[in-house]
Amino acid sequence: MNKTILITGANRGIGLALTKKCLSKNFYVEACCRNPDTSNELISLSNNNPHLNITKMDVTCAKSILSASENFKNEIDIMVCNAGINNGKGDLFSDEHNENAIMEVMMVNVGGPFLTIQNLYKNLNKKSTSKIVIISSLMGTQTHLSKNAPIYRASKAAANNLMRTISNHFLNHNIIVSSYHPGWVRTDMGGVNADISTEESATGLVNHFLNLEQSDSGKFFNYDGKPLPL
Ligand SMILES: NC(=O)c1ccc[n+]([C@@H]2O[C@H](COP(=O)([O-])OP(=O)(O)OC[C@H]3O[C@@H](n4cnc5c(N)ncnc54)[C@H](OP(=O)(O)O)[C@@H]3O)[C@@H](O)[C@H]2O)c1
Repeated sequence: MNKTILITGANRGIGLALTKKCLSKNFYVEACCRNPDTSNELISLSNNNPHLNITKMDVTCAKSILSASENFKNEIDIMVCNAGINNGKGDLFSDEHNENAIMEVMMVNVGGPFLTIQNLYKNLNKKSTSKIVIISSLMGTQTHLSKNAPIYRASKAAANNLMRTISNHFLNHNIIVSSYHPGWVRTDMGGVNADISTEESATGLVNHFLNLEQSDSGKFFNYDGKPLPL
């Protein structure tokens, strides 16, 4: 039986690469993005592939998430909260860190996974073990030495904390909840000098999603499956 994976922010970057990788493995993909009409790569993928269903969804809006759920074709085996932003790469005194920017990054990177899981829990396949994955970042760990991107780092630390709390919520519910660092990836966010391609990141991530076991719930992993400290 083919698995169904839901991916937020599926129109570009790591989300798009995850979509392609999962289609190549014969998954059904519920690809969620803010602007399906202009998501040309997703549209052309869906023209040749009935396994791909594209749905409009803004992860910062519960109403948008709930209305997206009405368009899904299948129950979800793996839910990937991938959508994210980094709107402030400077340090403490950078002008980028104004009130609106802080609210936006917290809302997308923390509120986004929370609202997605809260509103799409009902769409998880409860007949077998299902998996919820948050794409976080090594930048959110407590052991780093950088002084840059303080708000983005805090948002990813919070995303990992959210992963822990939600994993506690679903203990004994047959739902595994984990988070991942996708690597430093060549995307609009990661930039052209990043270490790895979206294809490398997505290959590692999808392989590890498939191998996740109940004992992995509450844990943070690198894209290649190596456990990471929170
Ligand atoms: N690239 C890296 O090196 C790296 C490293 C560590 C962690 N990450 C994490 O990996 C994830 C994906 O990053 P990426 O590098 O692929 O970034 P990206 O290329 O900038 O893509 C970000 C994706 O998130 C979507 N998004 C943003 N706000 C959204 C919202 N409110 N609702 C729905 N979708 C929204 C974007 O959609 P639009 O096209 O509509 O804007 C886009 O699809 C993020 O969570 C990021 O923090 C990336």
